[in-house]
Amino acid sequence: METLLATMTLVEKLGQLQQLDGFSEGGFRKEHLELARQGRLGSTLNVRGARVVNELQRAAVEGSRLGIPILFAFDVIHGYRTIFPVPLAEASAWDPDLAERTAAVAAAEAAAAGLKWTFAPMVDIARDPRWGRIVEGAGEDPFLGSAYARARVYGFQGKDPSEPDKILACAKHWVGYGAAEGGRDYAGVELSASSLRNIYYPPFRAALEAGVATFMSAFNDLNGVPTSGNASTLTSVLRREWGFSGFVVSDYTSVLELVAHGFAPSGAEAARLALTAGVEMEMVSRTYAENLENLVTSGAVPLSVIDEAVRRILRWKFRLGLFDHPYADEQREAETLARPEFRVLAREAAVRSLVLLKNEGGVLPFPKNLRSLAVIGSLADDRLSAMGSWSGDGRADDVLTLLAALRAREKLGGPHITYAGGGDVSGTTDAQLAEAVRTAKRADAVTVVLGESAAQSGEAASRAFIGLPGRQLDVLRAILALGKPTAVVLLNGRPLAIPEVATLAPAILEAWFGGLESGPAIVAALFGEVDPSGKLPAAFPHCSGQPAYYGRKSTGRPAGTDKYTSKYLDCPDGALFPFGHGLSYTTFALADLTLSSQSLRPDEKVTLEVEVRNVGPRAGTEVVQVYVRDLAASRTRPVRELKGFQRVSLETGEHRRVNFTLGAEAFGFYQDDGRFLVEPGQFLIYVGNSSIGGLETALTMLPARP
Ligand code: NOJ
Repeated sequence: METLLATMTLVEKLGQLQQLDGFSEGGFRKEHLELARQGRLGSTLNVRGARVVNELQRAAVEGSRLGIPILFAFDVIHGYRTIFPVPLAEASAWDPDLAERTAAVAAAEAAAAGLKWTFAPMVDIARDPRWGRIVEGAGEDPFLGSAYARARVYGFQGKDPSEPDKILACAKHWVGYGAAEGGRDYAGVELSASSLRNIYYPPFRAALEAGVATFMSAFNDLNGVPTSGNASTLTSVLRREWGFSGFVVSDYTSVLELVAHGFAPSGAEAARLALTAGVEMEMVSRTYAENLENLVTSGAVPLSVIDEAVRRILRWKFRLGLFDHPYADEQREAETLARPEFRVLAREAAVRSLVLLKNEGGVLPFPKNLRSLAVIGSLADDRLSAMGSWSGDGRADDVLTLLAALRAREKLGGPHITYAGGGDVSGTTDAQLAEAVRTAKRADAVTVVLGESAAQSGEAASRAFIGLPGRQLDVLRAILALGKPTAVVLLNGRPLAIPEVATLAPAILEAWFGGLESGPAIVAALFGEVDPSGKLPAAFPHCSGQPAYYGRKSTGRPAGTDKYTSKYLDCPDGALFPFGHGLSYTTFALADLTLSSQSLRPDEKVTLEVEVRNVGPRAGTEVVQVYVRDLAASRTRPVRELKGFQRVSLETGEHRRVNFTLGAEAFGFYQDDGRFLVEPGQFLIYVGNSSIGGLETALTMLPARP
């Protein structure tokens, strides 16, 4: 590599630092062909498909002076052609192994289509569901988020990203992006060092430990310094403290945006600030290509900084074997995309991401002999929405919606299906409402499909009010007034503030945006062929804007009946549906919690055992969750922190002892300087099936041995 570097001109070096958005209908932008020939295009995003990729690659490899291959990137977020449930849905399965498998399929398809890099996983912790991008991550919790970060990195990269079915992953958005003020996308972020260290950094750290090749610097300002020009997070923490040896790509034009932030007075200064802070590759804006030559000549940027950036990028191109195998194989692409077994996995993932929020009076599952079912709500027939935001190279035609799956079932002898859209998420006319009511009236049972369209969450899709958009609530009320057995199915990309739905509807199944197999998965749950076993990875609030995440601080005046306690006058305390919540068609009982020791020292581990028993009428799966509370510490700690979870599948009447081993990492926290501290004192441990309640025991942390 050093030999190559030594032969490169400065322009060629800057070319390696440039990533451009190459997509245009049917191929790539013609300008890019020229840039590739001149060795001025290190990477593209969005250019995809073996034939197209090869054409552009040929210009770089065979047409440029040094023949350095292009690194092709794309947002393969929850599938490339086979679209899996959105990441928030996958996190609802509390099954990181499954996420590793779906990421591996996404990688295999993407790699076959000529891609070698995805901008995923998004590992931003998101505690405000008004932020539309909560859909892209694993929710509100650093422990669950870290498990998913690791799994997804392994899934995309495997042990060796140069394998033909693997691609590079990218931990994004470094950092704090999910804490946008008021949940408004791209807004500024103020986070204490303690919050960064203990809440927002851990999933990134987990991705790094799993070997993630790249990071993406974010759009947001962090405590007054935009993250794409932030030397403290990019260099002091990521490179020096954590020893990250891969490279950082900016977010889309986020280098140039340092000017709009009011951080850099010019594009040139933006380039200098971003590069020296630690952003090696610039996405889309061209401040590096346009300014760095002058900046080097004037001595404002040392050549060594550019060389080091180029080295970090070339290192991955070499490791990927791109110099030896720059081209994609069209035959392989044809054989790999949309393989039937990938769809089977998509079904499994969609099933596991279902969360049964409420089920009163046993409305669900519907009886096997149900004669007719009315489906109300246009989302039931919305293929695009089922794919969620970032649907890769997915095809809406490949989606099996809820309505399609129900009709397919009808053909096989299932209940007669009738359907009325009842308007859509933007509104409902009185005539549409009346038609919905007429349709429901004639059926024996009703499924009301409510939620958001895919465009209402995701990037640049924050909402101030996260109730049901349009007149969906009116539709629901009118249907419920008929007194039929009615189940609500929610399709949405964020937790919603839906207190009326929670009160009025007897049964609510959260199905998110489940991907290609979303319909069959929901149908299987509605008719009890599968047991919904998901748990919420982020709380549903009672009201828009209410902080409802479970891991909050106690305050000096915890919410209570007394006036002078921490609460709103007009919104209940706690969550509508808390983190970790999710019912099953069966019932589980937890009992007999034991600890291997009531006290421990920081270098020891404790084993906790609990009995899980299926006391309900059918087989099912419970997710047993372990939370810890540090009762008093030199820095106040959250009222609970998730420290372990396990999925346990049991036949009816079956029981099993489940154990968890907790070490010091479960009982300590990061100090502002990054050191991990375990303090002596009292801890409570809760074991349950959500972040509320559960069995409880106490533990004493003793001082370290002298
Ligand atoms: C902007 C988004 O913030 C980022 O997540 C994505 O990877 C890039 N655009 C590229 O599409």
